[in-house]
Amino acid sequence: MALCGFAAPILAVLLSGIHPVRADDPSYVAAVYEHRVVLNPDPREPVERSAALEHMNKNLDVFEEQTALAAKQGAQIIVFPEDAIHGFNYTRSSIASYLETVPDPGRVTWSPCADPDRFQNTEVLHRLSCMARKNHIFLVANMPDRQVCDRLVDPLCPLDGQYQFNTDVVFSDNGTIVARYHKQNLYFEAAFDAPPKHEYVTFTTPFAGRFGVFTCFDILFREPVVTLVKDMGIRQLVYPTAWMNQLPLLAAVQFQCSFSYSAGVTLLAANVRAAALGMTGSGIFTPWDALHHHDAVGETGKLLVKRLPVLDPSVLEDGAGKAWLLVPFSGHPKVEVAVEESEKEEPWPVSSFSPMQSGPEPGYCPKEDCTEEPIPFTSTMMYDNFTLVALQGREGNLTVCDGSFCCHLLFRRRRTAKRELYALGAFDGLHVVHGTYYLEVCALVRCTGLEKESCGGETEHAQTLVDFHMHGTFSTEHVYAGVLGSGMTLDRPDRSGWGSKGRFYMTRTGMTTGLVTAVLYGRVYEEDSM
Ligand SMILES: *[C@@H]1O[C@H](CO)[C@@H](O)[C@H](O)[C@H]1NC(C)=O
Ligand SMILES: *[C@@H]1O[C@H](CO)[C@@H](O)[C@H](O)[C@H]1NC(C)=O
Ligand SMILES: *[C@@H]1O[C@H](CO)[C@@H](O)[C@H](O)[C@H]1NC(C)=O
Ligand SMILES: *[C@@H]1O[C@H](CO)[C@@H](O)[C@H](O)[C@H]1NC(C)=O
Repeated sequence: MALCGFAAPILAVLLSGIHPVRADDPSYVAAVYEHRVVLNPDPREPVERSAALEHMNKNLDVFEEQTALAAKQGAQIIVFPEDAIHGFNYTRSSIASYLETVPDPGRVTWSPCADPDRFQNTEVLHRLSCMARKNHIFLVANMPDRQVCDRLVDPLCPLDGQYQFNTDVVFSDNGTIVARYHKQNLYFEAAFDAPPKHEYVTFTTPFAGRFGVFTCFDILFREPVVTLVKDMGIRQLVYPTAWMNQLPLLAAVQFQCSFSYSAGVTLLAANVRAAALGMTGSGIFTPWDALHHHDAVGETGKLLVKRLPVLDPSVLEDGAGKAWLLVPFSGHPKVEVAVEESEKEEPWPVSSFSPMQSGPEPGYCPKEDCTEEPIPFTSTMMYDNFTLVALQGREGNLTVCDGSFCCHLLFRRRRTAKRELYALGAFDGLHVVHGTYYLEVCALVRCTGLEKESCGGETEHAQTLVDFHMHGTFSTEHVYAGVLGSGMTLDRPDRSGWGSKGRFYMTRTGMTTGLVTAVLYGRVYEEDSM
């Protein structure tokens, strides 16, 4: 567990001494629980309802215990992970006994705990509702859900006459179901259907206003989350996930942190804990800081509880709090009242960066060659063919392009470690392995060895301290900026934003841990269905 967040002091300076979050601003206490799921050892075999319930109750026993612990620490809302009640790898038929029908809270007002006999076959909903009610806490859980449909009126209705959804359910603090969200972007989940229409699901709390709901893989796509944030003004999101870590760009907490920072939102992220599957990484993120957990070796769950500021603009409208509302995807720090001031600022402190171009020095070059002008090479990073250049010398000024998309880097090493090779990579193209999505990426990575082919591989560790300014010629406005330090230390840019000529930049100096990855992860949603 650690803190991430460096932007606050800078923002305070920009706003002439106003701290982004003041003691008298409205706040609330949130909890997320990283749960080690008790799995069904044979998820492809159908079981009786009684066996499915017996299995799910083992997980719900832990939920019950953790909900009480969170409430005891003052939490007003708790989020549990995706798949955390039933597990994963079911087929469409083998999940049958695990399904309940979650009624649409827009049509039916129902507290399963208060009125348990209203609908049959709702034991899981009943237990969750009672946890919320007993502990006076809003509760977010994920469960498999069956919705009967009629092929005569709905041409998308599956052949067996029912949709099977991967569903988030939200209970208010009296046990009433207040929101239901069907996951849009499934990740190879044979048991489930995507909803026939995009769902933009929100719920309102008395303590913090509105929250939006989305699930796991959704975080990489436009719908529903970018619409929730940009068009609907949602600034607080609950996020059940079952995310397999993948460095150097997409470890769970790494991308959760980038998302929260770049979209300017609070993210309550609860991941599954499953070491064998590389799943860990949960946290409570605001655009300024975070409480997070990443544990690749342990096998225990983790409860995180944190007080955080209310960010819902509809609650803060009349208050002074509005002064620090962030504009999604504008880079930071950029806040509504500070627009003029921030535009006057130099786009980045280039003056403090004047690389001497001191030329190659042995030790910093790839094994094969140390040349006057670095020669671009290609290497695979997370299944994508990046074009890269090695960082040579103590400091420098580099450009690398993939087609017409170019990334630029000014860097200075403050502490060097022998045998640590770094490279700047560019990728502009459609990612097609484990999902299809179009990317424009600039990534400064620590290579895992001294060979060029090792650039793009997975490592959590680095000792070299690097100050840098990076920018790219993005065609998309949706750029997620992230900085990751050694040992999964979450860091953030000092500044980021749109500079001259439509280039997106970020700057970070003075890190105290070795640099593993600095990335500008651009998502070109429009090109996904090429
Ligand atoms: C689920 O499937 C994935 C591959 O799709 C596999 O790696 C994993 O071991 C499976 N897990 C279980 C619990 O069956
Ligand atoms: C239960 O909570 C919901 C949502 O916060 C609220 O609308 C409703 O009035 C509450 N019901 C009771 C009986 O308190
Ligand atoms: C990567 O791209 C380069 C040219 O852009 C090409 O020569 C190379 O074969 C590609 N590598 C792979 C693994 O596809
Ligand atoms: C870095 O190089 C680019 C082009 O090669 C140049 O335009 C820019 O001024 C250089 N920046 C610094 C700080 O040297």
